[in-house]
Amino acid sequence: MVSEGKTIDSNRLLEAARIVRERAYAPYSNYYVGAAVLTGSGKIYTGCNIENASFGATICAERVAVASAIAAGERELKALAVVTDGPNPGPPCGICRQFLVEFAGDLPIFLGNLQGQIVSGNLSDYLPQSFQGRFLGGSIA
Ligand code: THU
Repeated sequence: MVSEGKTIDSNRLLEAARIVRERAYAPYSNYYVGAAVLTGSGKIYTGCNIENASFGATICAERVAVASAIAAGERELKALAVVTDGPNPGPPCGICRQFLVEFAGDLPIFLGNLQGQIVSGNLSDYLPQSFQGRFLGGSIA
């Protein structure tokens, strides 16, 4: 968790993701992922992927970062950075996209790899026509 100003510093967010990526527990895929989210309070929360011998129990870096933010009392995501090591920066998986949309409007997303490539986008690009709480009616809008 790092204090952050009001404007989105994508380089700082990517750097936080790059650092936490080194803590990934990925002995099965050897695909190390780091994620960092900037929250409404201006702080940064990070996460890495955590694999399991029962493969389906694996959790992605993005969801670990969001869970860390929510557990700290945050409710709003302002930006996401993800760092991987591969020929192209890796986008969030489908489950993570749905997990992110719960706490974000049109979230800016910065994807990086160790080779220095950066791809920018928005959550609405990755998850158009998303299912949201408002479809359930009731008090969550
Ligand atoms: N992984 C992530 O951490 N984030 C994603 O969005 C895609 C996949 C992880 C899960 C697993 O540990 C490894 O990458 C290979 O799928």
